[in-house]
Amino acid sequence: MIIRPCEESDLNTLCAIEKACFKSHQWNYKQFQYELLENQFANIFVIEEGKVFGFIDFWILFEKGEIARIAIIPQLQNKGIGNILLNDALKRMIEQNVISFSLEVRVSNEAAIRLYEKNGFSKKLIKKGYYQDGEDAYLMLKEIGEING
Ligand SMILES: CC(C)(COP(=O)(O)OP(=O)(O)OC[C@H]1O[C@@H](n2cnc3c(N)ncnc32)[C@H](O)[C@@H]1OP(=O)(O)O)[C@@H](O)C(=O)NCCC(=O)NCCS
Repeated sequence: MIIRPCEESDLNTLCAIEKACFKSHQWNYKQFQYELLENQFANIFVIEEGKVFGFIDFWILFEKGEIARIAIIPQLQNKGIGNILLNDALKRMIEQNVISFSLEVRVSNEAAIRLYEKNGFSKKLIKKGYYQDGEDAYLMLKEIGEING
């Protein structure tokens, strides 16, 4: 398995991963293209072995890091790959002097919450009606020095 920066030629695959992983509000090609080419804070990495089967998008804003998106194709979920990809992203952010990390996650997304808690994130507050369909989000935070995954 290798983790490498996303290229424009990966974007159709990322859209397919989105469709397979998210029931609603999937990111489309244009959103990924904006993220890759125009959002100066965004970093997208893909994980592949023969083919790309997952990606992570994280933003670095000076000392703060935000996990914007992570997804692994359903057939390969729950095999430790999300954990590898998240760990790699955290390392890259630390190398860029990030000292605090944040993310929002649907309160119903048990797999993602487990992944984040395992990597030192804790639930800090609930953002009521954060998602367009009305679901609440947890704001989860991690401070540097808490890596224990
Ligand atoms: C969230 C996601 C990225 C996790 O990646 P993954 O490769 O499946 O996760 P891992 O195999 O590394 O597992 C990490 C932890 O989550 C747990 N987990 C994974 N799938 C789970 C599930 N379906 N239910 C409960 N826990 C689950 C694992 O058991 C593991 O914890 P453990 O080591 O204590 O057992 C993946 O499930 C996914 O792509 N989901 C759809 C997209 C999504 O919801 N993204 C997050 C919001 S942006």
